[in-house]
Amino acid sequence: MASVGSSRVPLIAGNWKMNLDHLQAIAFVQKLAWSLKDARHDFAKTEVAVFPPFTDLRSVQTLISADKLHLRFGAQDVSAHESGAYTGEISAAFLKTLDTPYVIIGHSERRTLHSESDEEVAAKVASAVKHGIVPVICVGETAEDLELHGPSAIPVAQLRAALSQAKFEREPGLTDIVVAYEPVWAIGSGQAATPEQAEQVAAQLRATLTEILGSDVADATRILYGGSVKSSNIAGFMRMPNVDGALVGGASLDIPEFASIAQFLKHVGT
Ligand code: 13P
Repeated sequence: MASVGSSRVPLIAGNWKMNLDHLQAIAFVQKLAWSLKDARHDFAKTEVAVFPPFTDLRSVQTLISADKLHLRFGAQDVSAHESGAYTGEISAAFLKTLDTPYVIIGHSERRTLHSESDEEVAAKVASAVKHGIVPVICVGETAEDLELHGPSAIPVAQLRAALSQAKFEREPGLTDIVVAYEPVWAIGSGQAATPEQAEQVAAQLRATLTEILGSDVADATRILYGGSVKSSNIAGFMRMPNVDGALVGGASLDIPEFASIAQFLKHVGT
């Protein structure tokens, strides 16, 4: 299993996409925290984070801090710019004032529906890193890419590009970035990759991290799998040596289901 023999604490992350307003978010996070408490979830062994829409972030941050919850949270996107005439955008500095630990960058829905380029993704990663927010860098190939280029060429190229502008003030720390491998064909399709497919690409992504950031950082960086993850298939992914967690979409909106995914250690068997 990924975490055995490595310093990597698995991360189960729920990307809510454009679901749940701030009132629904408060109720959801409270119930999720109770579910995990009931299940005696050990947050030191598996980190759990939610990624709500921007308008929920302040409410979620306040709740987590007031109730001293162990859940963490992040935003779903960030501007590449510091401030200024960028109507509708949210800067990394603003996210930092909300003590936002994480931000998803380069999700395939941003790349396809909003034409986000590799350069823009790289600029966003650079801005997150500059403000001390951990980017969850999403990479993944379409079904067409898979046929044309095989499984890892596009994700590896996207990761290289995404890291090309970031300036780490010191040597990147061991948990300064997270990578999420999300094959586009597996997102919301109900057709997840096989654990072996996810492992093959995750291993290539880790090799790329080793080349760019060195082996210490590469060994410590969490690589998540995303795309139709459910409680019934999480264990298979988590048994893979290079898969350190999951970025969950649809199933993260169902509290018992998401709590069960977070509790994968109970059904993974070592
Ligand atoms: P699904 O889990 O709904 O396939 O979505 C995956 C995803 O896009 C997470 O970012």
